[in-house]
Amino acid sequence: MAEPYLKVEGIVKKFGPFTALNGVSLDVYPGEVHALLGDNGAGKSTLIKTLAGVHEPTAGQIYVEGKPVKFRSPRDASSAGIGTVYQDLAVNPLISVTRNFFMGRELLRGPKGIGLLRMDEMDKIAHDEMLKIGIDISDPQQAVGTMSGGQRQTLAIARAIYFGAKVLILDEPTSALGQKQQMEVLKTMMRVRKRGDIAIIFITHNEIHSQLVADRYTFLALGQVIGAGKAGELEHDEIRRLMAGGAEMADLEQELSGI
Ligand SMILES: Nc1ncnc2c1ncn2[C@@H]1O[C@H](COP(=O)(O)OP(=O)(O)O)[C@@H](O)[C@H]1O
Ligand SMILES: [Mg+2]
Repeated sequence: MAEPYLKVEGIVKKFGPFTALNGVSLDVYPGEVHALLGDNGAGKSTLIKTLAGVHEPTAGQIYVEGKPVKFRSPRDASSAGIGTVYQDLAVNPLISVTRNFFMGRELLRGPKGIGLLRMDEMDKIAHDEMLKIGIDISDPQQAVGTMSGGQRQTLAIARAIYFGAKVLILDEPTSALGQKQQMEVLKTMMRVRKRGDIAIIFITHNEIHSQLVADRYTFLALGQVIGAGKAGELEHDEIRRLMAGGAEMADLEQELSGI
């Protein structure tokens, strides 16, 4: 079996006296979708911000390709191949697809900083990279504001991969979209998965979406892992129970049926 690209061991994150993560461990493998599930407040965002170099862990260790790493900034995490696509996507609707794709990393002609933009080349790269994971933008000069939510997700994902992401962290990529767009994003994820060299951490509230694409699961509740496993090893009922934060579904159903 392949080695995990990313290994997270015993991560603790405290905010003052409050413990947001209390010893979280998980392994993330290339070519797999790892669903990270848990209720609001479970610690999902805190965990990904720790992996993305936004927060320094209070304790615990992160390993990339078996080597211990310490991220002091998002740039450190990004250089180690951790690419995060946040919910707001960091795209500017008023500027072109290509400009959003490069955003500060434009290809220039001539001496650095004063050269002209190599626009045709950049258009081609943006177009081709997005086509590889499923959308054909006929005009990369069009404003991002004209694209659907699903297409914007694809842009943010293609950009992260082009700039070196080996672990792609997607924070609730389907939650703000209509059903058709949600499927587009799931298809994009499956195309990335198929490459085989990229690991995806998929944060979601939607158990159906997770079951459609996940190879592996980690369930968080109140800063702790309450369950984890490979897709084939977890029963549907077990997934539902863990989604409910480990609360006994039967008790909850009982309570509701009394109304
Ligand atoms: N910067 C912070 N300072 C203090 N508490 C925080 C901070 N960030 C998150 N928390 C707390 O940590 C817990 C986990 O939050 P979060 O990671 O956002 O959960 P999730 O993304 O699973 O909804 C929550 O109780 C939240 O209030
Ligand atoms: Mg969150």
